[in-house]
Amino acid sequence: MSEFRVTAISKLHAEFSVPGDKSMSHRAAILSGLSNGTCTIRNFLPSEDCLNTLNAMRALGASYEVLDELAGYGPIHLRIHGQSMKLSAPSAPIDCGNSGTGMRLLAGLLAGQPFTSELYGDASLSSRPMGRITVPLGQMGANIETLGATAGCAPMRIHPAKLRPISYQMPVASAQVKSAVLFAALFAEGQTTVIQPAETRDHTERMLASFRVSTRSDGNAISIYGGQMPESCDFTVPGDISSAAFWLVAAAALPGSRLLLKDVGLNPTRTAILKVLSRMGAHMLDIVHHSDGEPIGNIEIHGAPLTGTTLLESEIPNLIDEIPVIAVAAALAQGRTVIRNARELRVKETDRITTVVDNLRAMGAQVQEFEDGMEIDGGHPLHGAQIDSFGDHRIAMAFAIAGLFAKGETIIRNTDCVNTSYPGFAHHLDAIRRERSNAADFTLPTVSRE
Ligand code: S3P
Repeated sequence: MSEFRVTAISKLHAEFSVPGDKSMSHRAAILSGLSNGTCTIRNFLPSEDCLNTLNAMRALGASYEVLDELAGYGPIHLRIHGQSMKLSAPSAPIDCGNSGTGMRLLAGLLAGQPFTSELYGDASLSSRPMGRITVPLGQMGANIETLGATAGCAPMRIHPAKLRPISYQMPVASAQVKSAVLFAALFAEGQTTVIQPAETRDHTERMLASFRVSTRSDGNAISIYGGQMPESCDFTVPGDISSAAFWLVAAAALPGSRLLLKDVGLNPTRTAILKVLSRMGAHMLDIVHHSDGEPIGNIEIHGAPLTGTTLLESEIPNLIDEIPVIAVAAALAQGRTVIRNARELRVKETDRITTVVDNLRAMGAQVQEFEDGMEIDGGHPLHGAQIDSFGDHRIAMAFAIAGLFAKGETIIRNTDCVNTSYPGFAHHLDAIRRERSNAADFTLPTVSRE
């Protein structure tokens, strides 16, 4: 089992790119596989989560060819052969690994197929709630059995069904739930509407538009007509702002630092992290240089002494995946940071309220835990500690960042999990730890397969 050993840095001057966006890579694999032709996807994220979705689509008939590979991980440029909405029955249960997004989106896709399929995942995924998708999909006529040891949890067996459209008011603000219903709705005759309690990431809607499938948004309600055929297209995945967030916090918290992250996705439903770090005192410039479906741009950040902030309830869905590393920034800032209305963190890859609070305390931070979040009194010096990721990629990476500011050595155990979202994180961490500023030190090796 691998680990990170991290000590404090005194300098951060770097320019590099983070790998492709996880949310968009899942959706690109699914929509390309459904489309009516061949799609070229560039900068696909070859993380375990997205590779599982890509291979799930292959098991459903959508084969792919690798053009370029991130050495040791998997395809970054590839061609996917769409099946014109006619998927084939998989010959074996489909492995979704650690990915809630993969499992929930695929369940939506499979709910209205004329064949039986099964989705399973690892121990963490098998304990996460699936009722949030089986309820609306059931209202559409889907027949899904949850077979897990815990009620309402994976594995899921999805029986053949003919779906009908629904109007569904989502009880939780979840892009995964919204997307599962929208994918299922493609196979239901008539108009389906999902109403979100708050805005969530809109990658599904944007990517459907790239594939010429129309949806209509009216405030937080999104409607789609079934029977539309996704038209094949080429898609370039921007860098993942949730991966960028780790380095943004490292730079923000180090006065005198300068970091330029290139070609990052700047979709406004994902950029609240930038607002929060600015509010905390970091100097930031983000410039969209390309916007074709999804805005892409560069983020330049300069560190400064940080102060605490209160996350707004409306910001929570926008930065839900960044909260572990925001909590680290809060521990390094002067004053109090309040993170509430974030109960959803308890049903992520780990209970991220408990894992963040326990690990921050182990490093000397002052934190109070609440059912729906935490309050952090920052500015108390952090010290090195032995930290467990509990198999959660974002916990491993957030605490590697904490280690860059702690006195003594921080050892983060159980770090293989970072490959679920950020292949190459260890390489980038090493370059930051060694205070490198050469672009070449950050370049991840690729192999051409053409
Ligand atoms: C995701 C949505 C979020 C997020 C996850 C990716 C997506 O989950 O935490 O990492 O790609 O739709 P919820 O929508 O369930 O909050």
